Amino acid sequence: MNNILITGGNGQIGSELYTVLSERYGIGNIVSLDIQPPRMFGSRREVEHYEIVDVTDYKALRNTIKKYQIDTVFHLASLLSATGELKPDLAWNVNMNGLKNVLDLARDYQLQVFWPSSIAAFGPHSPQINTPQFTVLDPNTMYGVTKVAGELLCNYYFEKYNVDVRSLRYPGLISYKTPPGGGTTDYAVEIFYEAIKHKKYNCFVSAETRLPMMYMPDAIKATLDIMHAPAEQIKIRTSYNLAAISFSAEELANEIKKHIPEFECTYEPDFHQAIADSWPKSIDDSRAREDWGWSHEYDLAAMTADMLEKLA
Ligand SMILES: NC(=O)c1ccc[n+]([C@@H]2O[C@H](COP(=O)([O-])OP(=O)(O)OC[C@H]3O[C@@H](n4cnc5c(N)ncnc54)[C@H](O)[C@@H]3O)[C@@H](O)[C@H]2O)c1
Repeated sequence: MNNILITGGNGQIGSELYTVLSERYGIGNIVSLDIQPPRMFGSRREVEHYEIVDVTDYKALRNTIKKYQIDTVFHLASLLSATGELKPDLAWNVNMNGLKNVLDLARDYQLQVFWPSSIAAFGPHSPQINTPQFTVLDPNTMYGVTKVAGELLCNYYFEKYNVDVRSLRYPGLISYKTPPGGGTTDYAVEIFYEAIKHKKYNCFVSAETRLPMMYMPDAIKATLDIMHAPAEQIKIRTSYNLAAISFSAEELANEIKKHIPEFECTYEPDFHQAIADSWPKSIDDSRAREDWGWSHEYDLAAMTADMLEKLA
């Protein structure tokens, strides 16, 4: 890992990963790429090397990889679940053709690749409690369809071309640095902002909606752990189940109330509810723990306390 490219570098995960990677490998060795212009801190650009490129543009992507002599790609550019349902054609194009471009370049330029799948790869017929690593994958969202197809494509490039691509099925990720990007678990982030600002939140899923979640520092740790693991320990080349905490929307609201007693949460489920109902409530990630030593740090109480402290 010498010269690193993060696609979707402006996003919720990309911007946090950028900070950690630039501290570890030097800011000059990290390139952030996104279809959007870079985030600004006042008049200062947050990143050193930044390219505005559409990942569906193979030539532009190849030029970036050649220009910076990239050897490792964290491919995060994507449309997420809720946005993907609003724009299914665009979701297919960006999520599938973007990934295929990255995998083709990985094959031709010997790149190591990280690409995230999601709990959205599961569907209504997948077991919802302690969802196993190997089980039915029948998502009914375009986003989920692109995750299952993407997992199979990664495994195909590993088996056929020996591309070193590694993947995790992230649960819903909670973080404070940048706003979430149109996913079904965004309520678990928005609730913190609203609790601090307005002491109330109208949640777009029901109180009892339970989903697997993870605090961003744990997600970044998992991402770097799997990328640094010796190749022989990576025994699954589709995507690893990954888990930390699982809680209902009401349990999260009650945890926030311990810090902000006047906080009130109401529930008004919208189209996000059907997506959430098709996903697991908890995940069995024992293969990640056995194969490459995954362990998480943050439980609900520790995450809530840290989120409120950092956001305040
Ligand atoms: N955040 C989560 O809770 C979560 C959970 C599971 C999986 N994931 C996966 O992690 C990855 C990153 O997610 P995120 O939460 O950071 O998403 P995000 O929406 O915050 O960021 C995605 C970034 O991709 C960029 N982008 C979109 N189309 C592009 C294109 N054509 N070319 C270049 N850039 C483009 C967007 O501008 C955005 O900055 C995605 O693959 C997502 O499916 C995220």
